[in-house]
Order: sequence, then structure tokens, then C-alpha cells
Amino acid sequence: MDFFRKVPKIELHAHLNGSLSNRTLKELGAIKYGKDDPATTADECFYKITTGQSLTLKECFQKFKYAHDLTDQQETLAYATRAVIQDFAADNVVYLELRTTPKTTAHMSKKQYLTTVLDTIRKVQNEIPSITVKLLPSIDRSKGLQEAEENVSLVVELCEEYPDIIKGMDLSGAPFGTSFSDFGVILKKAQSCGLKMALHCGEFEDDDEIRDMFEFGTDRIGHGTFIRGTNLEVARKRGIPFECCLTSNVKCSTVSSYKEHHFKKLWDGGFAVCICTDDFGVFDTTLSQELSICCETYGLNLQDIIQLQENTIHYTFASEEEKQKLMEIFNNFKNTVKFV
Ligand code: IMP
Ligand code: ZN
Repeated sequence: MDFFRKVPKIELHAHLNGSLSNRTLKELGAIKYGKDDPATTADECFYKITTGQSLTLKECFQKFKYAHDLTDQQETLAYATRAVIQDFAADNVVYLELRTTPKTTAHMSKKQYLTTVLDTIRKVQNEIPSITVKLLPSIDRSKGLQEAEENVSLVVELCEEYPDIIKGMDLSGAPFGTSFSDFGVILKKAQSCGLKMALHCGEFEDDDEIRDMFEFGTDRIGHGTFIRGTNLEVARKRGIPFECCLTSNVKCSTVSSYKEHHFKKLWDGGFAVCICTDDFGVFDTTLSQELSICCETYGLNLQDIIQLQENTIHYTFASEEEKQKLMEIFNNFKNTVKFV
């Protein structure tokens, strides 16, 4: 684990509210509820979550519910954003693209939600110079088209004020009963402003939707579990990077085991592919742990791990100058390691 922690890492697929550790959830509970913190009341599931006991999948998803409740005010949202960046930095992540869905809550407008996250990123980045952080505001498919329109308009407005942080958009959430083409029309507005697209793509079997996402021009593929045939060839030809989230997919049962995960096929086939955590708080993992799984399960060696991270630089939405700096970090790291 020591090597995996030490290697500089790049995280491109992380949802803010899914990346709250048990410790952060507990601290947020104390801020929001004080001594009425649900962790100390009769809510057994919350108690299990904050004490780190093993959970069922249903309980894992409860974490989103708790996280959303706890981050519904500016103070706790800023606290959560800071904690997530600190946790990634502590795992030696040097570049992070964080995602979050702007929400109207009892205490915040969507604009306040997003500016709270953006201002916190700006502040924390100055305090922790070892990590560069970008934001990809999300559209939650389950919230419908009006919310999607609102999010895109807000992002287009705010990317003028935060052009160094907002680099693209994410499409996520439960896709059931929705059609990508409706969201594609809305997302075009952001795309034509120069924002990159990191869509959850191929999370379930739907060849037509995947084709539509490729035609739309997604810049990266979130998961890509069910991409096959012609679509897979298109992904290869265009070099569209896959964001593979091993533990997330295993715990959500979209793949049957680590061994069966599509990462192996993509890596062996020379596809553009990177490793991400998705929701490290919900799935109880770290990027270092995901990389160690790559060695244990797919036989990657330590040089492969460094190569995997170096390749990932090219899949980021960072500027050329920022990519150069990341390459320097890797060159410096390589000069310090000796392989036997
Ligand atoms: P938030 O956007 O910061 O609130 O992060 C949590 C949200 O990310 C969830 O409510 C989902 O909309 C989305 N999300 C997290 N993981 C996944 C996934 O694996 N598939 C689709 N959506 C996800
Ligand atoms: Zn995701």
C-alpha cells in the first residue's frame, strides 16, 4: 500500500456527496445537529455508517441521502468540500476533477450551492498547493429536464467568473425513464461554450444511447461497462478515455467481480483508460486502494501503475501548462523510485 500511496495520482471521476468519509459525515452531523446528531440517536443505519461497520448495498446508498441532508447549508457544504479535497490530497492525489449537482435546499439557491463549492475549492487549493482541483457541475438525470436547463444556464453564467475551476459538465444520476437525446440538446449549450463533457455512459445496456452520446461528442466515458461492438470500436478509434471505477461497479453489482471488470479488457486492448473512485465514501475505498486492486487482480506491475497515472494526465480537462506541470511531478517521482 505504501507504494500506491506514494505514487502521485489523478482522480477524474469523484462525486462530492459520495466522497464524504465516515469521519466527515460524523463531523457534519455534529455541526448540523449538535447534540441531536442522528449518529447518537436511534437511527441504526446512520450509526452503522458513521462507525464504519459493514453495510448492505441499500445502506451504502443511504449515504447519499444522509450526505445530501448534511450538506444542505453553506457552512456544512463548504466543510464537506474542504474535507473531500483534504482526503484526496492526503492520499497523494495531485489533480482532482470533482463533480457535484447544484441543488436548491431549504438554506441555499442553486447558485449559492455552486459558488460555495467553487469558493471553497479556490480557498483550499491555495492552502494545499500539492493538489489542483477542478469542478464538473452535474446534471442528475432523475431530476428532469427543467433542472437540467437551470444547471446548464447557471454553469454557463459561472464559468466566466471561475474559468480556472469549471472545466466541464457531468451527466449522472439514475437514468431510468429518461432519454439522453433530451439532455444532449440542453448540454449542447455548455459544450458550445467550450466546456468538456464527462458523461456517465454505458452504465446499463443501451447501444443506441451510447451511440447518441458518442455522436454528441462526450470527451470521456463514465464507467462504460456495457459498451460493445461498433460502439467499442468507435471509442477505440477516437481514443475516448474510459473512467473505470472498480469497487463502485462491484458493490453496485454492475459487474460480477473485480476479475470480470471491463478494465482488464480495456487495458490489454490498448484503450484510453483510467482508474477512479466514483464515491469513495459510499464504497469505502481510496484511489490508492483501487490501484492496488489493479496489481492484485489484473497483474499490473508498479511501472504499469505509474504509466497508468501518466497516461491519465492526457485525459484531464487541465490546460496544457497544467499538464506540463503534472508531467514534471511524475518525472520527479520516477527519479526517486528504484524498481528491483
Ligand atoms: P452530488 O452530485 O455531489 O450530490 O453526488 C451524489 C450524486 O452523484 C448522486 O445523488 C447521484 O446523482 C450521482 N452519482 C453518484 N454515483 C453515481 C453512479 O455510479 N451513477 C450515477 N450517478 C451517480
Ligand atoms: Zn459516477
